[in-house]
Amino acid sequence: MKHYSAYVFDAYGTLFDVHSAAARHRAEIGEQADRLSEIWRAKQLEYTWTRTMMGAYRDFAELTAMALDFAAARCGGISSNLREKLLQSYQTLDAFADVKPTLAALKKAGAKTAILSNGTPAMLASAIRSAGVQDLIDAAISVDEISAFKTVPAAYALVEKHLDVAAGMVSFQSSNRWDVAAGSKFGFDAVWINRTGQPDEYADLRPVRTLDGLTGLIAPTA
Ligand code: LAC
Repeated sequence: MKHYSAYVFDAYGTLFDVHSAAARHRAEIGEQADRLSEIWRAKQLEYTWTRTMMGAYRDFAELTAMALDFAAARCGGISSNLREKLLQSYQTLDAFADVKPTLAALKKAGAKTAILSNGTPAMLASAIRSAGVQDLIDAAISVDEISAFKTVPAAYALVEKHLDVAAGMVSFQSSNRWDVAAGSKFGFDAVWINRTGQPDEYADLRPVRTLDGLTGLIAPTA
């Protein structure tokens, strides 16, 4: 197996379950909880792309709140109290069950680990703390320092800058196929963590591997 200089992970959807915020307040949201969560995530991402193209950056915390407001309006509205609870929950999203054991195994094997995310430094610090993985992540890299979101190449270049590694020596994990496409185009060995059985896309910008979770990263290849 190739010996990578660093294992770099996307945050939202890959390490942290973006749908756990709405799930925690499912009873209060009501029967539209899943729909609200889907629209919330889709709008949040749309805003990152459109604002980067326009050159009208607002940070990921602001876009997350704006996206929630749109999703809530589409789903008949929510109280300001529930809005606050949902945004608060977004600061402490559940980590997927395979996150801690996989990071621990990578660290034990001597690997360098990092996050590269659209999230603000404060959001990432909070999510890392609540997942209890502070000691298993060497660096949390936020695109906030370039005021532009993935998929601009400058976002992926932050990994080279912060970790002092060459792109070709980085194993980059993301559950977002568009992020895998961009990471692969940048020069990373990109691994698609296809947690939800999505169909493949971006056929010309392929991952080196597709896994259904993170543990495949450390399992011996069959
Ligand atoms: C992130 C989003 C894209 O963490 O999931 O960068």
